[in-house]
Amino acid sequence: MTETAARIIDGKAIAAALRARVAARTAALGFRPGLAVVLVGDDPASAVYVRSKDRAAKEAGIAAETIRLPATVTEAELLAVVARLNADAAVDGILVQLPLPPQIRARAVIEAIDPAKDVDGFHPVNVGRLHDGTATLVPCTPLGVMKLLAEAGVVLRGARALVLGRSAIVGKPVAALLTAADATVTVAHSRTRDLPAECRRAEVLVAAVGRAEMVRGDWIASGAVVIDVGINRLPDGRLAGDVAYAEAAAVAGAITPVPGGVGPMTIACLLENTLGAAVARRG
Ligand code: GUN
Repeated sequence: MTETAARIIDGKAIAAALRARVAARTAALGFRPGLAVVLVGDDPASAVYVRSKDRAAKEAGIAAETIRLPATVTEAELLAVVARLNADAAVDGILVQLPLPPQIRARAVIEAIDPAKDVDGFHPVNVGRLHDGTATLVPCTPLGVMKLLAEAGVVLRGARALVLGRSAIVGKPVAALLTAADATVTVAHSRTRDLPAECRRAEVLVAAVGRAEMVRGDWIASGAVVIDVGINRLPDGRLAGDVAYAEAAAVAGAITPVPGGVGPMTIACLLENTLGAAVARRG
């Protein structure tokens, strides 16, 4: 572990290029796509994410509005806001930032969003379309992972891919997208027997478990491509991925850093989804 062998996949630069492409296509539309972001309560991390989404959308020429609701809002009140946004012709994309306070069922809220405006791709209709190969709106972080792999020139056809984590937001959709791209996909998780051995078989490893630096250098095959979706706050305040970066970079063929890897792609893909939803709705 003396030097970095891996090529660094620069998510910040790839995301900036995608945002510029979205801005150029938006400017040529003749109308402004609308994005409504709903933030409930005062979770500091959610507030940071929502501010970034709002700012990036405005920079891309999207008419973004953030609707802030108190942590005490009832589920009925939030559903009424969603219904109003569904009916608003100027709104092309609706995003309700998660997590929601305990009195609100996230599932009920997600299912209330018009699937055509569901720029997170979380509605069961969009989840179903992702799995039957007819997707229009794909969850932003998984879409960003696929774009990073494409930009890095990774050949997925026939490749052994391992997805570490089976969440509805990242692990499951990433596995579906990798399968659609003709990779041979294993989904590993907290109950997987001999996780290091499973990881070592992978030519492409996507880590999305939310545990800081859980994946060690000796879990990674020489030359493997490592995509680190984790964003974890260490006790000393630093951000760390799910992968022990320095160890992994010494053996991997290519790797995404944290920060500056998958994170910036999530927002860029949200903008692309909003543009896509706007074009699909308004022709
Ligand atoms: N909270 C953490 N990630 C996300 C996301 O991608 N979308 C929403 N709506 N909330 C989140």
